[in-house]
Amino acid sequence: MKRTGAGTIRTSDVGSKVRLQAWVHRRRDHGGVLFMDLRDRSGRVQVVVHPDRAPEVASGMEDVRLEWVIEIEGEVALRAPDAVNSKLPTGEVEVVASSGRVLSRCEPLPFSIDGVGEASEETRLRYRYLDLRRSELAENLRLRHRVVMESLKYFDEQDFIHVETPILTRSTPEGARDYLVPSRVHRGSFFALPQSPQLFKQILMVAGVERYFQICHCFRDEDLRADRQPEFAQIDVEMSFVEVSDVLSLTEGLIGRLFPLIGSEPEPPFLRLTYDDAMRRYGSDRPDLRTDIEIVDLTDALGSSAFRGFRQAVEEGGVVRAIAVKGAADASRRMVDGWNDIAQQQGAVGVLPLRRRDGEVLFQVKNVLTDGEKESAAQALHLADGDLALLVAGPEVSTSAALGALRGELAREYGLLDEDAFRFLWVTDFPLVEWSASEGRWTSVHHPFSSPRLDELNLLDSDPGAARSMTHDLILNGTEVGGGSIRIHDSALQKKVFGLLGIGEEEARERFGFLLEALSYGAPPHGGIAFGLDRLVMLMAGASSIREVIAFPKTASAVCLMTDAPSLVDSEQLGELGIRVPPRPAS
Ligand code: AMO
Repeated sequence: MKRTGAGTIRTSDVGSKVRLQAWVHRRRDHGGVLFMDLRDRSGRVQVVVHPDRAPEVASGMEDVRLEWVIEIEGEVALRAPDAVNSKLPTGEVEVVASSGRVLSRCEPLPFSIDGVGEASEETRLRYRYLDLRRSELAENLRLRHRVVMESLKYFDEQDFIHVETPILTRSTPEGARDYLVPSRVHRGSFFALPQSPQLFKQILMVAGVERYFQICHCFRDEDLRADRQPEFAQIDVEMSFVEVSDVLSLTEGLIGRLFPLIGSEPEPPFLRLTYDDAMRRYGSDRPDLRTDIEIVDLTDALGSSAFRGFRQAVEEGGVVRAIAVKGAADASRRMVDGWNDIAQQQGAVGVLPLRRRDGEVLFQVKNVLTDGEKESAAQALHLADGDLALLVAGPEVSTSAALGALRGELAREYGLLDEDAFRFLWVTDFPLVEWSASEGRWTSVHHPFSSPRLDELNLLDSDPGAARSMTHDLILNGTEVGGGSIRIHDSALQKKVFGLLGIGEEEARERFGFLLEALSYGAPPHGGIAFGLDRLVMLMAGASSIREVIAFPKTASAVCLMTDAPSLVDSEQLGELGIRVPPRPAS
């Protein structure tokens, strides 16, 4: 008899014989009658063993414990009406066992497969094979699979070809540290694992591929967070003879194909905001648009008021800005203090509340604003009765950052965030470079291969910090899910940008000679983007960390608790590689 999937059995199967091979998910003994829920990847079904009708099965199953793998043959029967479980697709039936045997035993479990949230993440990662048996994670893996399959189909239909690029390669500057792999053959030389296939995909454009994509792994040694892993997957794309809008609409098409997998229908074209506008309106280059709270500029309304805090900020070239929060007028002193701390963490002096209560507009600091000033600020903020505004004055950068952080915080606190929505937007035209005080040089905001805007090339010499690049990030609910750019396809301009970044000619030749050379052999204009596959699936699955959508993730301290990697290697292996590791300092 063929094996039947436990979760596939329905009332239409009543009377038929089935053979199950599955895990014991639950087990209970009701006065000698044994009930077991058997689980396999198709779902669960209840099995019942009657000691009087099948005494051999009953005695053979006596020892069986949770997560043992067993085989049961039996007949599908209807459950009594009061025993129906409406939560399970198989809840109206059960399998009455006629024979059974144990296929595999299971040690006492470190955590219950059924229970939610009772095991620490360390324990779950250590026993990942048990963790992955839980339905949430099994569902996440399947969703990820469907996202991968749909992406492959989409790009194939759009005439892209999937090309694999090397894992053992040279360093690509994506802003993180490299993972290095020592070469045995060339002692003292190292490969770097790719931070992304950036240079290879550009070289594929020079090679005439025109439309490339790849689902690939990238490796970055950087500080980890809930949405960052040292090893992660990208859906990586590059196209020739395109403009920014081509890259954006092609990838909007991909999103339009993926989100129906979870019953959502995003509507392209997505909002497109420049970096400057995103910072001004939302105080973030990845704003969460699930709340419509927007930053309002009050510099004109309040900058020349009698309040020194505002006047001085504006005299020094700063701004007065605010956000309004519906229904928050009764915020306590303690809450305001908490928001003040958040603003200060972003470098602002603090926040000052303005409230409209019983028709009156009240400002935290008494007698410094005229009624007219308070009223015009309240109007600009559309402050209705019962609403609160938080005002910040100071330099534009820290004011934006403070209000950006408070926007998210207050939206969450006051239930003004539409938790179930998916809100996409593009943020474009990022600054080309930013000044790194610690390194004493300009560094790329995206990567060194993104093109400056061609109408701003003169700024590269006169005011590099003001130059913008032809970059685009796709933001979903406040998370950057993709990023890309139109590239430099001219080797002279590429050399100039390297020069701006403090990469001298010698170093450029040494590190990127192959790229510069390729660009000089007829490089087409090209551009592309890479999506963070893990982040995308995390948001689609409603998971709180990308670890929940990766089969075998690393911990926040970049180790794999299941395999215990990274691990020490023996001195012979190190010797072959010509590596000597100094002894660990005694702790
Ligand atoms: P970028 O560095 O922006 O661009 O990466 C693209 C996307 O990859 C995801 N991502 C990560 N996901 C998980 N863990 C990480 N450590 C991590 N780092 C990045 C993000 C991000 O938007 N070569 C360029 C792309 C291009 O220019 O075409 C690149 O890699 O979702």
